[in-house]
Amino acid sequence: MAIRIIVKDPDPVLREPAKEVTKFNSNLQKLLKDMAETMYDADGVGLAAPQIGISKRVIVVDIGDEESGLIEMVNPVIVEQEGEQLGPEGCLSIPNLNGDVRRADRIVVNGQSADGTPFSVEATGFLARAFQHEVDHLNGILFTDLAESVYDISERQRKGGE
Ligand code: NI
Repeated sequence: MAIRIIVKDPDPVLREPAKEVTKFNSNLQKLLKDMAETMYDADGVGLAAPQIGISKRVIVVDIGDEESGLIEMVNPVIVEQEGEQLGPEGCLSIPNLNGDVRRADRIVVNGQSADGTPFSVEATGFLARAFQHEVDHLNGILFTDLAESVYDISERQRKGGE
């Protein structure tokens, strides 16, 4: 495993639609391990492959609750959304900003595991927010595109980077 360098806005890879994964091989398994290690090293709660410069539809999420733990998902697609939540969000690729973003409060996301097995996650609250943030990364969307207000946190401690 290895900690990868997190690319920062305005790196163009963050704006590219990421490519669907079709090969479920050892390279993908290594990518997922490296992404988890990189996320934990940066104290993040989620990471998308474009954030380490790899334009593939791969995400990892761990919001730090024991129930959900680390979720690794390949080719995620949000298939249900309901309700609404407005709350603060940050991003490991935009280190000095947070913003209030309106998101669905409950989602269902379908995807595949590292070996290609389909699975689905139902999420509410902060976990639902993290999934929506990471899937946006795969479509070239950053939270600053959606935020109703953006604030500079460079003078304060960053929290909840995704
Ligand atoms: Ni992010």
